Amino acid sequence: MSLAFSSDLMARTAPLYERVKSVIPSIEWPAFADDIDAILALKRERNAVILAHNYQTPEIFHCVADIVGDSLALAREAMKVDAGVILLAGVHFMAETAKLLNPAKRVLIPDLGAGCSLAASITAADVRLLRQRYPGVPVVTYVNTSAAVKAESDICCTSGNARRIVESLGVPKVIMLPDEYLAQNIAAETGVEIVTWAGHCEVHERFTARDIRQLRAGHPGIVVLAHPECPPEVVAESDFTGSTAAMIDYVGLERPARVVLVTECSMSDNVAVQHPGTEFIRPCNLCPHMKRITLPKIRHALETMRHEVTIDPDVAEPARRAVERMLEV
Ligand code: 13P
Ligand code: SF4
Repeated sequence: MSLAFSSDLMARTAPLYERVKSVIPSIEWPAFADDIDAILALKRERNAVILAHNYQTPEIFHCVADIVGDSLALAREAMKVDAGVILLAGVHFMAETAKLLNPAKRVLIPDLGAGCSLAASITAADVRLLRQRYPGVPVVTYVNTSAAVKAESDICCTSGNARRIVESLGVPKVIMLPDEYLAQNIAAETGVEIVTWAGHCEVHERFTARDIRQLRAGHPGIVVLAHPECPPEVVAESDFTGSTAAMIDYVGLERPARVVLVTECSMSDNVAVQHPGTEFIRPCNLCPHMKRITLPKIRHALETMRHEVTIDPDVAEPARRAVERMLEV
C-alpha cells in the first residue's frame, strides 16, 4: 500500500474509527480500515445490505453493518430489505431464516461453518419422534435450529418473544425445542408445562450461579443481566433476563453505573461504545461460531457472491409458515 493511498484510506475511514475508538486500539485500526473501505464499496456495487447479530465484533457491528439486532429483529428486518442481496453476519440459522422470509433474494453467509450448538443438537426425525410420544402437544421451536427442524414445528420463537409465543397458544402443555434451559426458564415464568430437549448453548451453559455470586462480591452494586439461554440457577441470581436486544434496551433505559452482561463477549464491546457512562465488567464466553465471521471473509463473500444459502423447497414452505406464525403473534 503506497503512503499516499494509505493516508487517503485513513482519512476516509477516520469517522468510522471515531465510533469504535473506545474498544479498538489505534494500532489495530490500519488492519481493519482497508477491508472496511472495500466492503462499503462492494455493498454499493452489489446492491447488498449487511445484517449483523449483536455478537459480531465491533468493527463489523459498528463499521459495516446496515442493520443490527437480536435474532427476532434480524428476522423482522430481513423482510423489509429492498436490496437484492442480504449478507448475514451471524450464524447459519440466521441466514436460513433471512432466506425463508426472502425467497427471491440472494442471501450470503461469509463462512458456512458458522453453526450453533443448539441447532446441531436436534434433527427433524427427533421432532417427529417427539410428536409421536406426545400426540396433540404443540411444538414450539427456537429459531436456533435448521430449516428442516422448523418445518416440523407448529411455531417458532426467539429469546425475545418465547414467553409471548408460549402464552399465545393458550394450552397447559407444550414441547419446546431444543434449548433445555430456555424452556425451563419459560416454564418458570409462565407456569405452562414444557417438554424439553437436552440442547444447550455452548456459550451460556458455562455460566454458573457461583460466577454471579463472586461477581457481586467483587463489584458492589453491579447490575447483572443474563441471557435466558443461561441455566435457571444463573437466571435466579440475576437482576434481569432478556434477549440480547432486551439487555441493550435495559442499559439504555436504566443507565446502570456498573453492569455485567452474562452472555457472549462482543456484546459488552458493542454496547459500551454507545454508553460511555456505564462501567462494563467483562467475564464472558466467546461463541466460536459467531467469531468465524470476520471482515476479510465478508469482503470475500461480496467479491465472490459466496456462500449463497439455499433451502430445499419441500422444507422451505412449512419452515416459513412456522416463522411467519411467530412474526404474527
Ligand atoms: P438473541 O440475540 O435472539 O437473544 O439470541 C442470542 C443467541 O445466542 C443467538 O445466537
Ligand atoms: Fe448458538 Fe450459543 Fe453461539 Fe448463539 S451463542 S450461535 S446460541 S452457540
